[in-house]
Amino acid sequence: MPTREVVQIGHPSLRLNARYLTLEDITKPETQRTIDDMVETMRAATGVGLAAPQIDLPWRVFVAEAEPSQRRPDIERLELLCVINPQLVVLDQALVSDWEGCLSIEQGTMVGVVKRYHRVRVEGLNREGREVAHELVGFHARIAQHEVDHLDGILFFDRIYERLSPRESPIISTRENRDRYLESAAPTERTQSALNSEDKRSGDSEREGI
Ligand code: NI
Repeated sequence: MPTREVVQIGHPSLRLNARYLTLEDITKPETQRTIDDMVETMRAATGVGLAAPQIDLPWRVFVAEAEPSQRRPDIERLELLCVINPQLVVLDQALVSDWEGCLSIEQGTMVGVVKRYHRVRVEGLNREGREVAHELVGFHARIAQHEVDHLDGILFFDRIYERLSPRESPIISTRENRDRYLESAAPTERTQSALNSEDKRSGDSEREGI
């Protein structure tokens, strides 16, 4: 399974509305090979999610997979997921702030604090074309929202600004500065688990970008 180039911010494919796949599209060997390549590309890039527009394909498909790491020990394991034509149903309107990166923005090395819904259901088709629904919470729900945004040409930077309250400032940082800041800042509930990590800087290969 070859890896594909992950296109970077400024590439027009990241700003398009991707198209729905038909059952006929899904069963084509080319589509199945492409999904294999997306999984391989996500893993090679040490990401936790990848949407088809990120490999310059205007299809409504994303893959996701996560596991706890030194940098993000709070992340729970997410088994490999592939959703085609995904639709999001928000199950909890509460917005939660957390750090987020994107493999298409400086290869995931730029991060920002983005508000996302805490609990969502993702409905769509699996790679066999069967209907599936996944209830996702916390970081897993964040990944799904980030990926579905990619299918609508939305990048996480957009959400930072769109969801700021009047008195809030946007928080955007390099990942390196974020880790440095976490060492010196007063711990908050959100950052506590990162502060508890033994060695926050050893994990350049750790999975974080989406
Ligand atoms: Ni992304």
